[in-house]
Amino acid sequence: MPLPLWTPDNRVPLFVFGLTTGVAVTAAFQYLYSSLSKRNQPPPPADYDPLPGNAVGGLRPDTQFESTIQRLEREFTINTSMLHNLVKAFTRDMERGLKRENSVIKMIPSYVERRPSGDETGTYLALDLGGSNFRVCEVTLLGKGQVRTRQKKFVVSEALKTGTGEQLFDFIADCVEQFMGELNIGKDTKLKMGFTFSFPVDQHALNKGNLFLWTKGFTASGVVGTDVVQLLQDAFHRKDLKIDVTALVNDTVGTLISHAYVDNATYMGVILGTGSNAAYVEKMENIPKWKGPPSSTGEMVINMEWGAWGQDGIILPTTAYDLKVDRASPNPRKQTYEKMISGMYLGEITRQILLDLISTGEIFGGRHCSALEAPYSFETAYMSRIERDHSMELTDTRTILEDLYGIKKTTLSDRRLIKRICQLIGTRAARLASIGIASVVTKMNRLHGCTVAVDGSVYEHYSYFRTRMIDALKELLGVNADNITLAQARDGSGQGAALIAALADHGEL
Ligand code: GLC
Repeated sequence: MPLPLWTPDNRVPLFVFGLTTGVAVTAAFQYLYSSLSKRNQPPPPADYDPLPGNAVGGLRPDTQFESTIQRLEREFTINTSMLHNLVKAFTRDMERGLKRENSVIKMIPSYVERRPSGDETGTYLALDLGGSNFRVCEVTLLGKGQVRTRQKKFVVSEALKTGTGEQLFDFIADCVEQFMGELNIGKDTKLKMGFTFSFPVDQHALNKGNLFLWTKGFTASGVVGTDVVQLLQDAFHRKDLKIDVTALVNDTVGTLISHAYVDNATYMGVILGTGSNAAYVEKMENIPKWKGPPSSTGEMVINMEWGAWGQDGIILPTTAYDLKVDRASPNPRKQTYEKMISGMYLGEITRQILLDLISTGEIFGGRHCSALEAPYSFETAYMSRIERDHSMELTDTRTILEDLYGIKKTTLSDRRLIKRICQLIGTRAARLASIGIASVVTKMNRLHGCTVAVDGSVYEHYSYFRTRMIDALKELLGVNADNITLAQARDGSGQGAALIAALADHGEL
């Protein structure tokens, strides 16, 4: 299945001053990291094709080619010692988030105090909004970890993402009405619903939460600072639907809970898709900022909102290319970690590098390519295809560049360089993602064994992503990495919301 097209079309102007300062600061950090890195280089990835010693393509001397690659390798490589340092910083920021509000990593208590037993039963509706697709599901829990789901997918257009909140929520209500019609569920039927809303929300009850800020290209007006359950409930009232939204759930929390229904060793849920985030089970005594009622289990699932990590600008080894992507995004200076690891941005980072190398004449003989000029026009899915291209002449890479992007007469050395760039960006993303997982699993004291449920198009479809994550986990956790199972979860977030609605219905939350 191809990865979706990530094309937010709402941009903000570039802040030249901010960019210049940012580049200087980043360059200083980069220097620090690269001097450290000389001592501790990771082995090249298993899928790395070494470059031939002689000229390939013939447009420029080999030395130019090598030096471009070396520069990019220096900028984009996260070696083992950097991994360890970043885990320390990540762990410190997690702890800060558990202590106080307004930390970089928000660590939001989800009001979900238990994982399911596997015996829950009943029929619930679930909504799943968080990216370019929106899903309505009817979930029947059959007990013994069995679930039957009927669902329908709808596309959320750019106009809806960037219009008004009312239009967005009316669209959702329309989709629900249409879905109920197709399933012959009468309009007057009273139904309970779990709402998966995959954006940072200041949750103040199981079914209440105000949107902190939009991410992933959404900007719909009138929603930030407002209770999204109320907005949804109002839209249902406008349509006379008798639906009671009883749980507001982040996709990471839904993924954790739905996977725990079938595998009770699951303590963490991760999304590596258009955006990235994670949720895990924390002990109440480790959440000093919690002011709510005591939890009956002594535990609470935390929606970390880890995508924001690094947005204070001092931790992550961002490059000038990352800064360009950030400054031109709909949410500049936000979600730094997410912008380095998730599907919405990997293609865009690559595009920025390609534009730079065209401008310096290092690729395509310096010929301008109009198809690459449009923001977000280089798809992350193509990076994955290029990485999988092991043909001698890199023929599939040629098809992508020449047929899909209209770049005339690429040379083998152009294509090799581009493949190496994709490997660097993809590898950096996977290694960075492992930092979050290693930190959480260590903090939970579960190095002896647990399952981490991972969902999302990047994890599922991007070539070598999982293997690279496992390699980085081994560098970080040694033999303990073997005790951590990264389990592929699929479409769990909707089911998870239904399960949480079921737990609430049975008075367990
Ligand atoms: C973004 C959202 C977060 C969500 C993640 C994955 O980071 O802010 O809530 O979990 O994307 O969809």
